[in-house]
Amino acid sequence: MTKKKTDFKFIDLFAGIGGFHIAMHEHGGKCVFASEIDKFARKTYEHNFRNLSPEIFENGNFNEDITDSKLDYSNIPDFDILCAGFPCQPFSHAGLKKGFDDTRGTLFFNIKEIVRAKIEANNHNKKAVIPKVLLLENVKGFKNHDKGNTFKVVVRTLNELGYEVAAEVLNSKHFGVPQNRERIFIVAWHRDSINKTHFKFPFGLNENNEVIFEKEKRDEEAKKICVGNILLKAKELDKLESRDQKTYTISEKLWSGHKRRRIKHAEKGNGFGYSLFNAKSPYTSTISARYYKDGSEILIEQKGIENRPERPRKLHPIEAARLQGYPIDTWYEIPVSDNQAYKQFGNSVSIPVVKTIASEIITQLLKAK
Ligand SMILES: C[S@@+](CC[C@H](N)C(=O)[O-])C[C@H]1O[C@@H](n2cnc3c(N)ncnc32)[C@H](O)[C@@H]1O
Repeated sequence: MTKKKTDFKFIDLFAGIGGFHIAMHEHGGKCVFASEIDKFARKTYEHNFRNLSPEIFENGNFNEDITDSKLDYSNIPDFDILCAGFPCQPFSHAGLKKGFDDTRGTLFFNIKEIVRAKIEANNHNKKAVIPKVLLLENVKGFKNHDKGNTFKVVVRTLNELGYEVAAEVLNSKHFGVPQNRERIFIVAWHRDSINKTHFKFPFGLNENNEVIFEKEKRDEEAKKICVGNILLKAKELDKLESRDQKTYTISEKLWSGHKRRRIKHAEKGNGFGYSLFNAKSPYTSTISARYYKDGSEILIEQKGIENRPERPRKLHPIEAARLQGYPIDTWYEIPVSDNQAYKQFGNSVSIPVVKTIASEIITQLLKAK
């Protein structure tokens, strides 16, 4: 991706592999600070953004641990937009549901402290920039976590800092990627800097890439997609497998285990187990950070495909990247192992969703009079 003229500055917290970075950069944003603790995610991040945003790496603004007591938040360069997909384990359905009592849950409070430090800096020196917009992402269940209390605390905290808040659950499948991925997005804007009472969320994109603003119309109007859009052709996959001396087809043992567990679950009356998809499926289930374990949430059928085994296969990391809308076919690269790559794409935001939100933040909020 080429460098763009800077219209605004942003910071990328809990940066992962840079989903927000790509979206903000494409809309003229310049990244001035990023933070990511995981060594392998940092590797992917630096590999892909060193050329695009060299300053953060050269000026010591690629922080590791955002809770590091040596990091003085008032030294973070001024920015207009804060992006943060803060870790979702404590709030996830699959997680322990510990919320803010769990120390990991307190990472939201680091976000709050960064914003507070910037507001205080402005109180002392009017030239210091107040963060205008905060864009936060979390799992769908975030709103109901701890009977809605966790979300209430977040909204109240942001309100107290001087921000208006809007939140919606959006689904990646309405934005042109064939994945059923529901995530909550929270947009907060500084009420003294931006004179707006509402933020109109985009709910999807139609065939002409126009934004769908009516929630009820998104299923009907969203652009038509299918899993085939992100799959490698059988020949391409064969070539990659023989180049890398590995197979993405699951082993006979794993496949029998999946089938056995499905029967057991069905007997107990619940629907868990593996999920099979093919090129014609409209979308896959959500790719999660656990995908590397056995791939059961998204298995691709191979029966009847020439020269391919009968058993299903896992996604290739290139397909996982496409499933999240990463520009893997143009410039984005994967410098880590398959397992790390699955974890990283599973943890990431879907690029077309954040790109669309970023565009609306710019037109509705940053450019608002
Ligand atoms: C849900 S992922 C966010 C992914 C990101 N939005 C993307 O597009 O790839 C949360 C990230 O926060 C990172 N993280 C967790 N604790 C952290 C901390 N104390 N400081 C910095 N990063 C942290 C994790 O390693 C993980 O990559």
